[in-house]
Amino acid sequence: MIKTLTRIPVAHYSNLKARSGYSIKIDDMEIALFKVTTGEVYALENHSPHPKGGVLSEGLVSGHYVYCPVYDWKISLADGTVQAPDEGQVRAFQVEINDDIIFIVL
Ligand code: FES
Repeated sequence: MIKTLTRIPVAHYSNLKARSGYSIKIDDMEIALFKVTTGEVYALENHSPHPKGGVLSEGLVSGHYVYCPVYDWKISLADGTVQAPDEGQVRAFQVEINDDIIFIVL
């Protein structure tokens, strides 16, 4: 079966501040968008993998990681994996940037 990819425009690249998280909604999915100091943009599901966790868009961005705001778990922005000694995974979304528009690829 061929899966068609959908590119959904979600933000203007020039509007995003580095080291900040943004919350966006696609249908009933909440996604956290992050721009890092080197300019890359990442997108993760906007929910911490911790059972009592909060929203990742309010976390602290450092390098290519976000530290979740409630339990301080360190999560890779690139693939959503929680770093040791904690464990877990958040869904990571593919991001494309074209002419100042950021797209999430689903
Ligand atoms: S809010 Fe996520 S482990 Fe913290």
